[in-house]
Formats: sequence, structure tokens, C-alpha cells
Amino acid sequence: MRDEPARAATAIEVADFRQAYGDFEAVRGVSFTVRRGEVFALLGTNGAGKTTTMESLLGFARPRAGSVRVLGLDPAKDGRALRPRIGVMLQEGGFLGDLTVGETVRLWRGMAADAGRSSMAGTLEMVGLATKERTRVRQLSGGQRRRLDLALAVLAEPEVLFLDEPSTGMDPEARRGTWQIIHDLRAAGVTVLLTTHYLEEAEKLADRLAIMHQGRITTSGTVDEVVTPAGDQIHFRLALPPAGLRERLREGLPFLDGTAATTAHSGDGTRVTYALPASPEAGRAHAALRPLLDWADKHELTLERLEVCRGTLEDVFLRVVEEGR
Ligand SMILES: Nc1ncnc2c1ncn2[C@@H]1O[C@H](COP(=O)(O)OP(=O)(O)OP(=O)(O)O)[C@@H](O)[C@H]1O
Ligand SMILES: [Mg+2]
Repeated sequence: MRDEPARAATAIEVADFRQAYGDFEAVRGVSFTVRRGEVFALLGTNGAGKTTTMESLLGFARPRAGSVRVLGLDPAKDGRALRPRIGVMLQEGGFLGDLTVGETVRLWRGMAADAGRSSMAGTLEMVGLATKERTRVRQLSGGQRRRLDLALAVLAEPEVLFLDEPSTGMDPEARRGTWQIIHDLRAAGVTVLLTTHYLEEAEKLADRLAIMHQGRITTSGTVDEVVTPAGDQIHFRLALPPAGLRERLREGLPFLDGTAATTAHSGDGTRVTYALPASPEAGRAHAALRPLLDWADKHELTLERLEVCRGTLEDVFLRVVEEGR
């Protein structure tokens, strides 16, 4: 069977997946695959269908159309075989508030077919809850609850981990701790599908990502593949206010690679931005800089705080929303 190695290398497969609530089609034909050992981030606007997709991957609902597979199994039919092999952190954690943190972890360990090698103390230590073992879950802060959620998701040493907004509500330090945990899990060969609204989180963690909007994936690939089409930007400041600049330069600011500058007041100077359009050429900003520097020399101007940046994931995200309106 020619497809066998490819299939074994695939942890999650979503093909032409559609899901609906009554008449409302929440997911409208979504396809993506997550390879084994990969971290895949599902980004998207509120209500885009991320949680809905994840819930079908967990077998909570059968697809309306298309198919979803996890480790080659159908989650709606093969839940019993699948459950011991996956870890889950839902967007809404379902805790029993009266139990303590320690009791919750113990209960979870009891239910897991294989509670793994990690001890209770080690697990709580990992998520920074070592001092909270005797605290009731209901008394934890929102971020602490998310940490407990994460601890329970990784307890049974899963092969595939589903994390729906794992770091929402966490303080910056706890968020970095969560990133480290996900990083370490990936290094240990765990496959991770996560959703997040923190684009930095996706940039830091994801091998590949997809952006969803209104039930569809609008763009996907590695961070580089997704961001490169957003083009490069050149920024600098000139120590002349816009009116002074107009007086001094009759022909105005130069065009760079056919792109006009945009200007804004900046203190007693002018902030200049060029947004170079998307290009498959890697050296586009490089080529645009030379005429800019020649122009500055000719006019005896200094380009203060000169920066060349590539487009960001945020630019891409905002464009997806803009174009989807
Ligand atoms: N149980 C439900 N009944 C009816 N509609 C639902 C239900 N759950 C979700 N929806 C709708 O389906 C759409 C997708 O919701 P979903 O929770 O999958 O979005 P999401 O991408 O996870 O959003 P967020 O980023 O806000 O978590 C939304 O329009 C939502 O209102
Ligand atoms: Mg959601």
C-alpha cells in the first residue's frame, strides 16, 4: 500500500469538514493535516469555527460532511481506543469546584488508563501549582485554573494533545511557562493542535498554522509562508516637520519600487513608512534601500531610526478579516 507511510506520519486529518448547529453552518468545508510530532496552530476570529472543529476531532459530534481522523481513527466511532492516546484542554474547563487541586489530579490519574510516569508533585510543579494542592478548585484564579487544566491534559502522556486557547487568562510569566511545556512536549515527540488568539504564541510554537474566518480556512502554511506575502515595510524618521519637508524638497519623497511613502507627524519631525507590496523575491527590501540611501545623501538628510521589517502575522490576520467582511 503506497499511502501507508504517509498515513502513519499523519496524526490528524481533516478533509472537507463541515459542521452545523441546526440550520447554521459553523464550519464550511475545512481541510488540513497535522503531521506526527508537529505543533499546528488554528488561529481565527471569534466564532470562526475553531472550537467546533476541535470538538469533532474529539468525537463530541459527527461531521455534517467530510471526515476527521485522529491517529487514523474516527473519533466519533473509535473513542474508546482513542481516548487513552490523547490529551485535551477544552476552552471551558469542567471542574468540580469543591474538590481540591490535589483531589482533582488524583481523580484524573485514577481515570486515566495510564497515568504516566509523572508524579502528582511533579505535575503540579510543572504548571506552578505546587503550593495549591490543598486549595479548592473554585478558589483558584482564572489563570491558575487554566494551569490545572493543562496539568490534567498532559497527565497521561498523550500522543496527541488538543489545546483550545491554552494560555488565555494567564499572566505573561505563566504564558511563557506554558510555551516551555508545549515546547518540551514537542521535543518528546507529542503532536499538538492548539488554538490561540495570541499571534506571538503561534509564531513561537507552531510548525504550521491556519487562519480561519467564518467557517473557512483562508490561509495556511509555515509562519514564513503565511507572512511573506504580507510584504516588507521600511520605516524611518526625518528631523523636519512635514511642512518644512515640503519646502525643502520640491519633488517630495521618492517612490521605492513603485511604492509611495506615507507620512505622519512625529514630534518635531516626520515619520515615513513604505509598505512594499508582496513579492516572491526575497531581496525586495534590500533593492529598495539603495535608492533611498542615495536620495537621502543627495538631500543631505539622515534617515533616523531606520528599520526594515517584514509583514507580521497580525498584518495577515487583519487582512483576512478585512477581506472577509
Ligand atoms: N452549541 C452551539 N449552538 C449553536 N451555535 C453554536 C454552538 N456552538 C457554537 N456555535 C456557533 O458556531 C460558530 C463557531 O463557534 P466556535 O465556538 O467554533 O468558534 P471559535 O472559532 O472557537 O471562536 P472563539 O475564538 O470565540 O472561541 C459561532 O458562530 C457560534 O456562535
Ligand atoms: Mg473557541
